[in-house]
Amino acid sequence: MKQKISLLEKIIDDSIRKVLKDYQPRTLFDPAQYILSLGGKRLRPLLTLMAADLFGKDPEDVIDAALAVEIFHNFSLVHDDLMDKADLRRGYPTVHKKWTENSAILSGDALVIEAYRYIAKVPVDVLPDILELFTTTAMEICKGQQYDMDFEQRMDVTEEEYIEMIYLKTAVLIGCALKIGAIIAGAATEDADLLYKFGINIGLAFQLKDDLLDVYGNPETFGKKIGGDILCNKKTFLLIKCLKNASDEQRVELNKWLTATAYDPEEKIKFVKNIYDELNLKFIVENLIEKYYLASLDFLSSINIADDRKRNLITLAENLMYRER
Ligand code: IPE
Ligand code: IPE
Ligand code: MG
Ligand code: MG
Ligand code: MG
Repeated sequence: MKQKISLLEKIIDDSIRKVLKDYQPRTLFDPAQYILSLGGKRLRPLLTLMAADLFGKDPEDVIDAALAVEIFHNFSLVHDDLMDKADLRRGYPTVHKKWTENSAILSGDALVIEAYRYIAKVPVDVLPDILELFTTTAMEICKGQQYDMDFEQRMDVTEEEYIEMIYLKTAVLIGCALKIGAIIAGAATEDADLLYKFGINIGLAFQLKDDLLDVYGNPETFGKKIGGDILCNKKTFLLIKCLKNASDEQRVELNKWLTATAYDPEEKIKFVKNIYDELNLKFIVENLIEKYYLASLDFLSSINIADDRKRNLITLAENLMYRER
Protein backbone atom coordinates (compact mmCIF):
# COMPACT_ATOMS: atom_id res chain seq x y z
CA MET A 1 0.00 0.00 0.00
CA LYS A 2 2.71 2.47 1.06
CA GLN A 3 4.71 1.63 -2.03
CA LYS A 4 1.77 2.13 -4.37
CA ILE A 5 0.80 5.44 -2.78
CA SER A 6 4.37 6.76 -2.83
CA LEU A 7 4.53 5.93 -6.51
CA LEU A 8 1.31 7.82 -7.23
CA GLU A 9 2.47 10.74 -5.08
CA LYS A 10 5.68 10.94 -7.08
CA ILE A 11 3.73 11.07 -10.34
CA ILE A 12 1.63 13.93 -8.94
CA ASP A 13 4.66 15.79 -7.62
CA ASP A 14 6.59 15.53 -10.88
CA SER A 15 3.60 16.71 -12.92
CA ILE A 16 2.66 19.62 -10.66
CA ARG A 17 6.13 21.09 -11.01
CA LYS A 18 5.46 21.68 -14.72
CA VAL A 19 2.16 23.53 -14.17
CA LEU A 20 2.40 27.24 -15.19
CA LYS A 21 6.13 26.82 -15.84
CA ASP A 22 7.58 29.52 -18.13
CA TYR A 23 4.28 31.43 -18.23
CA GLN A 24 4.67 35.25 -18.30
CA PRO A 25 4.45 37.65 -16.54
CA ARG A 26 5.94 36.09 -13.43
CA THR A 27 4.17 38.68 -11.23
CA LEU A 28 0.95 36.83 -12.12
CA PHE A 29 2.23 33.25 -12.09
CA ASP A 30 4.81 33.23 -9.27
CA PRO A 31 2.10 33.46 -6.57
CA ALA A 32 0.13 30.68 -8.30
CA GLN A 33 3.19 28.44 -8.57
CA TYR A 34 4.12 29.30 -5.00
CA ILE A 35 0.90 27.92 -3.55
CA LEU A 36 1.19 24.78 -5.71
CA SER A 37 4.81 24.29 -4.65
CA LEU A 38 3.91 24.34 -0.95
CA GLY A 39 2.38 20.93 -1.52
CA GLY A 40 -0.02 20.06 1.22
CA LYS A 41 -1.37 16.55 1.35
CA ARG A 42 -2.25 16.39 -2.35
CA LEU A 43 -5.18 14.28 -1.27
CA ARG A 44 -7.56 15.03 -4.13
CA PRO A 45 -5.30 14.16 -7.09
CA LEU A 46 -4.25 11.04 -5.20
CA LEU A 47 -7.91 10.07 -4.94
CA THR A 48 -8.38 10.53 -8.69
CA LEU A 49 -5.40 8.26 -9.37
CA MET A 50 -6.54 5.69 -6.82
CA ALA A 51 -10.08 5.67 -8.21
CA ALA A 52 -8.71 5.01 -11.70
CA ASP A 53 -6.50 2.25 -10.29
CA LEU A 54 -9.51 0.69 -8.56
CA PHE A 55 -11.08 0.17 -11.97
CA GLY A 56 -7.84 -0.92 -13.63
CA LYS A 57 -6.69 2.28 -15.35
CA ASP A 58 -3.08 3.56 -15.32
CA PRO A 59 -2.27 6.77 -13.43
CA GLU A 60 -0.82 8.34 -16.59
CA ASP A 61 -4.26 8.16 -18.19
CA VAL A 62 -5.88 10.33 -15.49
CA ILE A 63 -3.03 12.56 -14.36
CA ASP A 64 -4.29 15.65 -16.25
CA ALA A 65 -7.72 15.38 -14.65
CA ALA A 66 -6.08 14.81 -11.25
CA LEU A 67 -4.00 17.96 -11.75
CA ALA A 68 -7.12 19.93 -12.71
CA VAL A 69 -8.73 19.01 -9.39
CA GLU A 70 -5.62 19.92 -7.38
CA ILE A 71 -5.13 23.21 -9.26
CA PHE A 72 -8.77 24.09 -8.58
CA HIS A 73 -8.33 23.18 -4.91
CA ASN A 74 -5.32 25.49 -4.68
CA PHE A 75 -7.33 28.33 -6.25
CA SER A 76 -9.99 27.82 -3.59
CA LEU A 77 -7.37 28.03 -0.84
CA VAL A 78 -5.87 31.28 -2.14
CA HIS A 79 -9.27 32.97 -2.15
CA ASP A 80 -10.34 31.22 1.07
CA ASP A 81 -7.31 32.61 2.91
CA LEU A 82 -8.19 36.10 1.74
CA MET A 83 -11.79 35.64 2.91
CA ASP A 84 -10.73 34.05 6.23
CA LYS A 85 -7.96 36.63 6.83
CA ALA A 86 -5.49 33.78 7.27
CA ASP A 87 -1.77 34.58 7.38
CA LEU A 88 -0.42 31.04 7.31
CA ARG A 89 -0.97 28.15 4.88
CA ARG A 90 1.00 24.90 4.82
CA GLY A 91 3.43 26.47 7.29
CA TYR A 92 4.21 29.47 5.04
CA PRO A 93 2.79 32.97 4.50
CA THR A 94 -0.44 33.01 2.48
CA VAL A 95 -0.38 34.51 -1.02
CA HIS A 96 -2.08 37.77 -0.01
CA LYS A 97 0.47 38.20 2.81
CA LYS A 98 3.54 37.37 0.75
CA TRP A 99 2.28 39.47 -2.18
CA THR A 100 -0.90 41.59 -2.11
CA GLU A 101 -4.67 41.03 -1.93
CA ASN A 102 -4.99 41.90 -5.62
CA SER A 103 -2.30 39.36 -6.37
CA ALA A 104 -4.28 36.70 -4.50
CA ILE A 105 -7.43 37.54 -6.46
CA LEU A 106 -5.80 37.48 -9.88
CA SER A 107 -3.40 34.56 -9.39
CA GLY A 108 -6.39 32.65 -7.95
CA ASP A 109 -8.36 33.42 -11.10
CA ALA A 110 -5.42 32.23 -13.21
CA LEU A 111 -5.44 28.94 -11.28
CA VAL A 112 -9.12 28.32 -12.05
CA ILE A 113 -8.54 29.02 -15.71
CA GLU A 114 -5.56 26.66 -15.78
CA ALA A 115 -7.62 24.01 -14.02
CA TYR A 116 -10.07 24.16 -16.93
CA ARG A 117 -7.23 23.78 -19.43
CA TYR A 118 -6.27 20.52 -17.69
CA ILE A 119 -9.78 19.14 -17.29
CA ALA A 120 -10.38 19.75 -21.01
CA LYS A 121 -7.61 17.22 -21.79
CA VAL A 122 -9.69 14.19 -20.75
CA PRO A 123 -10.68 11.77 -23.57
CA VAL A 124 -13.42 13.30 -25.75
CA ASP A 125 -15.92 10.50 -25.11
CA VAL A 126 -16.05 11.38 -21.41
CA LEU A 127 -15.43 15.12 -21.76
CA PRO A 128 -19.11 16.27 -21.60
CA ASP A 129 -19.84 14.27 -18.44
CA ILE A 130 -16.63 15.30 -16.72
CA LEU A 131 -16.99 18.98 -17.64
CA GLU A 132 -20.52 18.94 -16.25
CA LEU A 133 -19.38 17.29 -13.00
CA PHE A 134 -16.37 19.57 -12.62
CA THR A 135 -18.40 22.73 -13.28
CA THR A 136 -21.26 21.74 -10.99
CA THR A 137 -18.73 20.95 -8.27
CA ALA A 138 -16.92 24.27 -8.75
CA MET A 139 -20.20 26.17 -8.43
CA GLU A 140 -21.19 24.16 -5.35
CA ILE A 141 -17.90 25.13 -3.70
CA CYS A 142 -18.67 28.82 -4.32
CA LYS A 143 -22.10 28.30 -2.74
CA GLY A 144 -20.55 26.55 0.27
CA GLN A 145 -18.02 29.32 0.70
CA GLN A 146 -20.83 31.91 0.57
CA TYR A 147 -22.79 30.05 3.29
CA ASP A 148 -19.59 29.79 5.33
CA MET A 149 -19.27 33.59 5.23
CA ASP A 150 -23.00 34.26 5.74
CA PHE A 151 -22.95 32.00 8.81
CA GLU A 152 -20.21 34.11 10.45
CA GLN A 153 -22.85 36.80 10.94
CA ARG A 154 -25.55 34.48 12.26
CA MET A 155 -26.07 32.98 15.71
CA ASP A 156 -28.87 30.57 14.81
CA VAL A 157 -27.10 28.25 12.35
CA THR A 158 -28.37 24.68 12.80
CA GLU A 159 -26.38 21.45 12.66
CA GLU A 160 -28.19 20.55 9.44
CA GLU A 161 -27.24 23.87 7.85
CA TYR A 162 -23.64 23.32 8.87
CA ILE A 163 -23.54 19.85 7.31
CA GLU A 164 -25.06 21.23 4.09
CA MET A 165 -22.44 24.01 4.08
CA ILE A 166 -19.46 21.63 4.47
CA TYR A 167 -21.03 19.25 1.97
CA LEU A 168 -20.81 22.10 -0.54
CA LYS A 169 -17.50 23.71 0.37
CA THR A 170 -15.49 20.53 0.97
CA ALA A 171 -17.16 17.16 0.43
CA VAL A 172 -18.22 17.56 -3.21
CA LEU A 173 -14.64 18.14 -4.43
CA ILE A 174 -13.50 14.94 -2.75
CA GLY A 175 -16.42 13.06 -4.30
CA CYS A 176 -15.69 14.70 -7.65
CA ALA A 177 -11.97 13.80 -7.53
CA LEU A 178 -12.89 10.13 -7.10
CA LYS A 179 -15.72 10.08 -9.60
CA ILE A 180 -13.63 11.65 -12.35
CA GLY A 181 -11.07 8.85 -11.94
CA ALA A 182 -13.85 6.27 -12.06
CA ILE A 183 -15.49 7.77 -15.18
CA ILE A 184 -12.22 7.93 -17.13
CA ALA A 185 -11.51 4.34 -16.09
CA GLY A 186 -14.84 3.30 -17.60
CA ALA A 187 -16.52 2.25 -14.35
CA ALA A 188 -20.23 1.40 -14.41
CA THR A 189 -22.37 4.46 -13.56
CA GLU A 190 -23.63 2.77 -10.42
CA ASP A 191 -20.09 2.11 -9.17
CA ALA A 192 -18.94 5.65 -10.02
CA ASP A 193 -21.89 6.99 -8.00
CA LEU A 194 -21.09 4.74 -5.04
CA LEU A 195 -17.49 5.95 -5.11
CA TYR A 196 -18.79 9.53 -5.17
CA LYS A 197 -20.86 8.85 -2.05
CA PHE A 198 -17.83 7.26 -0.40
CA GLY A 199 -16.03 10.54 -1.14
CA ILE A 200 -18.86 12.69 0.19
CA ASN A 201 -18.80 10.92 3.53
CA ILE A 202 -15.01 11.01 3.72
CA GLY A 203 -15.27 14.71 2.86
CA LEU A 204 -17.75 15.49 5.63
CA ALA A 205 -15.52 13.66 8.13
CA PHE A 206 -12.51 15.47 6.65
CA GLN A 207 -13.98 18.96 7.24
CA LEU A 208 -15.14 18.05 10.75
CA LYS A 209 -11.59 16.91 11.48
CA ASP A 210 -10.22 20.14 9.95
CA ASP A 211 -12.46 22.13 12.30
CA LEU A 212 -11.20 20.07 15.25
CA LEU A 213 -7.56 20.56 14.26
CA ASP A 214 -8.21 24.30 13.97
CA VAL A 215 -8.79 24.29 17.73
CA TYR A 216 -6.86 21.27 19.00
CA GLY A 217 -4.12 20.82 16.38
CA ASN A 218 -0.41 21.11 17.01
CA PRO A 219 0.80 24.49 15.65
CA GLU A 220 4.13 22.86 14.67
CA THR A 221 2.50 20.40 12.27
CA PHE A 222 -0.92 21.87 11.34
CA GLY A 223 0.53 24.58 9.08
CA LYS A 224 -2.34 27.02 9.77
CA LYS A 225 -3.02 29.35 12.67
CA ILE A 226 -4.63 27.50 15.57
CA GLY A 227 -7.82 29.26 16.65
CA GLY A 228 -8.44 31.00 13.33
CA ASP A 229 -12.04 29.74 13.19
CA ILE A 230 -12.75 30.98 16.73
CA LEU A 231 -11.45 34.45 15.85
CA CYS A 232 -13.76 34.64 12.77
CA ASN A 233 -16.80 33.33 14.72
CA LYS A 234 -16.95 30.50 12.18
CA LYS A 235 -20.03 28.41 12.75
CA THR A 236 -18.17 25.15 13.06
CA PHE A 237 -19.93 22.12 14.49
CA LEU A 238 -18.05 22.84 17.73
CA LEU A 239 -19.47 26.33 18.04
CA ILE A 240 -22.99 25.34 16.98
CA LYS A 241 -23.06 22.52 19.53
CA CYS A 242 -21.55 24.86 22.11
CA LEU A 243 -24.29 27.45 21.59
CA LYS A 244 -26.84 24.67 21.96
CA ASN A 245 -25.41 22.90 25.02
CA ALA A 246 -24.07 25.87 27.02
CA SER A 247 -25.35 26.59 30.51
CA ASP A 248 -26.72 30.09 31.14
CA GLU A 249 -23.41 31.12 32.62
CA GLN A 250 -21.39 29.68 29.73
CA ARG A 251 -23.72 31.34 27.22
CA VAL A 252 -23.15 34.76 28.75
CA GLU A 253 -19.41 34.22 28.55
CA LEU A 254 -19.62 32.91 24.98
CA ASN A 255 -21.81 35.79 23.80
CA LYS A 256 -19.39 38.24 25.31
CA TRP A 257 -16.56 36.84 23.16
CA LEU A 258 -18.68 36.46 20.01
CA THR A 259 -19.75 40.10 20.10
CA ALA A 260 -16.53 41.65 21.40
CA THR A 261 -14.93 44.12 19.04
CA ALA A 262 -11.69 44.92 20.89
CA TYR A 263 -9.96 41.96 22.52
CA ASP A 264 -6.70 40.06 22.74
CA PRO A 265 -7.01 37.28 20.11
CA GLU A 266 -5.18 34.70 22.23
CA GLU A 267 -7.52 35.45 25.15
CA LYS A 268 -10.58 34.87 22.99
CA ILE A 269 -9.21 31.56 21.71
CA LYS A 270 -8.33 30.44 25.24
CA PHE A 271 -11.74 31.24 26.74
CA VAL A 272 -13.85 29.82 23.91
CA LYS A 273 -11.73 26.65 23.84
CA ASN A 274 -12.22 26.36 27.57
CA ILE A 275 -16.01 26.27 27.14
CA TYR A 276 -15.63 23.66 24.38
CA ASP A 277 -13.60 21.57 26.82
CA GLU A 278 -16.11 21.96 29.64
CA LEU A 279 -18.84 20.68 27.29
CA ASN A 280 -16.72 17.76 26.05
CA LEU A 281 -17.28 18.88 22.45
CA LYS A 282 -14.11 17.33 21.03
CA PHE A 283 -15.45 13.91 21.95
CA ILE A 284 -18.85 14.67 20.37
CA VAL A 285 -17.23 15.74 17.11
CA GLU A 286 -14.92 12.72 17.09
CA ASN A 287 -17.97 10.49 17.28
CA LEU A 288 -19.59 12.27 14.37
CA ILE A 289 -16.39 11.88 12.34
CA GLU A 290 -16.48 8.16 13.08
CA LYS A 291 -20.11 8.02 11.94
CA TYR A 292 -19.32 9.53 8.52
CA TYR A 293 -16.19 7.39 8.21
CA LEU A 294 -18.23 4.22 8.79
CA ALA A 295 -20.91 5.40 6.36
CA SER A 296 -18.20 5.95 3.73
CA LEU A 297 -16.99 2.37 4.14
CA ASP A 298 -20.51 1.07 3.52
CA PHE A 299 -20.61 2.79 0.14
CA LEU A 300 -17.14 1.53 -0.75
CA SER A 301 -18.00 -2.04 0.15
CA SER A 302 -21.07 -1.92 -2.13
CA ILE A 303 -18.91 -1.27 -5.20
CA ASN A 304 -18.84 -4.25 -7.49
CA ILE A 305 -15.05 -4.88 -7.34
CA ALA A 306 -12.98 -7.45 -5.44
CA ASP A 307 -12.40 -6.35 -1.84
CA ASP A 308 -8.62 -6.60 -1.99
CA ARG A 309 -8.56 -3.85 -4.63
CA LYS A 310 -10.25 -1.51 -2.13
CA ARG A 311 -7.57 -1.92 0.55
CA ASN A 312 -5.58 1.21 -0.40
CA LEU A 313 -8.63 3.45 -0.29
CA ILE A 314 -9.68 2.06 3.09
CA THR A 315 -6.23 2.62 4.57
CA LEU A 316 -6.09 6.15 3.15
CA ALA A 317 -9.53 6.99 4.57
CA GLU A 318 -8.53 5.60 7.94
CA ASN A 319 -5.32 7.65 7.99
CA LEU A 320 -7.31 10.80 7.20
CA MET A 321 -9.44 10.29 10.31
CA TYR A 322 -6.35 10.23 12.54
CA ARG A 323 -4.33 12.87 10.71
CA GLU A 324 -2.53 15.70 12.49
CA ARG A 325 -2.37 18.11 9.57
C1 IPE B 1 -7.89 22.44 3.16
O1 IPE B 1 -7.75 21.27 2.45
C2 IPE B 1 -9.28 22.96 2.95
C3 IPE B 1 -10.29 22.08 3.52
C4 IPE B 1 -11.22 21.55 2.80
C5 IPE B 1 -10.27 21.79 4.94
P1 IPE B 1 -6.55 20.29 2.75
O2 IPE B 1 -6.50 19.99 4.22
O3 IPE B 1 -6.64 19.13 1.84
O4 IPE B 1 -5.30 21.19 2.40
P2 IPE B 1 -3.89 20.78 1.78
O5 IPE B 1 -4.06 20.74 0.29
O6 IPE B 1 -3.48 19.45 2.34
O7 IPE B 1 -2.95 21.88 2.19
C1 IPE C 1 -12.12 25.76 3.25
O1 IPE C 1 -12.57 25.54 4.54
C2 IPE C 1 -12.85 25.07 2.18
C3 IPE C 1 -12.40 25.60 0.88
C4 IPE C 1 -11.22 26.12 0.66
C5 IPE C 1 -13.32 25.54 -0.23
P1 IPE C 1 -11.61 26.16 5.65
O2 IPE C 1 -11.61 27.64 5.59
O3 IPE C 1 -11.90 25.50 6.94
O4 IPE C 1 -10.18 25.63 5.14
P2 IPE C 1 -8.81 25.98 5.83
O5 IPE C 1 -8.93 25.55 7.28
O6 IPE C 1 -8.58 27.43 5.68
O7 IPE C 1 -7.82 25.13 5.09
MG1 MG D 1 -9.89 28.98 5.70
MG1 MG E 1 -12.89 29.15 4.90
MG1 MG F 1 -10.40 25.04 8.45
